[in-house]
Amino acid sequence: MLSKGAFSPPDWAKHLNPAPSSIYCLAQLPSPIHRWDLPNLPADTQVWIKRDDLTGMQLSGNKVRKLEFLLAEAKLQGADCVITIGGIQSNHCRATAVAARYLDLDCYLILRTSKVLVNEDPGLVGNLLVERLVGAHVELVSKEEYTKHGSEALGDMLVEKLRAQGRKPYLIPVGGSNSLGTWGYISAAQEIEQQIEAGTCPRFDEIVMACGSGGTTAGLALGNHLSMIKSKVHGYTVCDSPDYFYDYIQGLLDGLHAQVDSRDIVRLVDAKGLGYALSSTGELELVKEISEATGVILDPVYSGKALHGMVKDMVCDAKYWTGKKVLFIHTGGLLGMFDKLQQIQPLTGNWRRMQIM
Ligand SMILES: Cc1ncc(COP(=O)(O)O)c(C=O)c1O
Repeated sequence: MLSKGAFSPPDWAKHLNPAPSSIYCLAQLPSPIHRWDLPNLPADTQVWIKRDDLTGMQLSGNKVRKLEFLLAEAKLQGADCVITIGGIQSNHCRATAVAARYLDLDCYLILRTSKVLVNEDPGLVGNLLVERLVGAHVELVSKEEYTKHGSEALGDMLVEKLRAQGRKPYLIPVGGSNSLGTWGYISAAQEIEQQIEAGTCPRFDEIVMACGSGGTTAGLALGNHLSMIKSKVHGYTVCDSPDYFYDYIQGLLDGLHAQVDSRDIVRLVDAKGLGYALSSTGELELVKEISEATGVILDPVYSGKALHGMVKDMVCDAKYWTGKKVLFIHTGGLLGMFDKLQQIQPLTGNWRRMQIM
């Protein structure tokens, strides 16, 4: 943990360029894969789950895999602080804040919130509590400002400001989803391949995950395509549209000179529902039902929506999923649930005053 080492890509990824030269060990890996007995599956369908929600505590979830590469580059470049950007409950921003502190880097977070809240203390709910405990500098912008300027320009503005103060900032894009960050899930594919080879789990017909900024899906789809895993990869998009993500993922693949077409290596399905980070009652009911049935708690913004999308798919096309072995990637994000307390409370009735004899 926290050591930096040389990185050597798997043989099947040696042609990808650029390849990272070093990696920081930040995550608890390999993350386990186990059977996940979901209720109401089509006949003979088996679901397994890869627990990337268990890659750490403060550093839990999928983002830590990308940060292992991104922060190694930041250090190599002599940065003294990092900047990143996301929604007010961004798991990526929380993971970046923690990892940066571990590596003695200051962290600046540009967080998007509503116009009515942008001038107020953002509070301590969920990811914000961790970010503020580890001393990240929180810079709020409104959704309107975010749309007007774009995440890149806002990041660049802060880079300029910090440089003018003599700092050496390293800018990480939304979700850590650039070509370097994509190596996080190319490596995760290698990890799955090794787990299959070791007999920890079977070969899978299908791999399912949430797609929020594209890097996780791009890395896994590419790793799956190049390695011997060769499953069908399904990314359930929780914002924007599948077409947007086919193009975005293509950019990440082209950035690695992968010479593959995104549409050939992943199926993207719209699972946005009411919109990014907006939960329908049906989605939250499913999260509650699955928590109660299996003990695995999904987050409401990413994996909860992905599972909701997958279940819908299984109902619409039960024939396709019948008899399949499916691997669901749980990408973490539990802290986001604290932002949904009011909505989730009516679904949780199990308490009473103890009868003392
Ligand atoms: C918990 C969680 N799961 C999934 C995702 C989606 O991953 P990606 O941004 O790489 O598409 C994110 C971030 O966007 C996340 O925070």
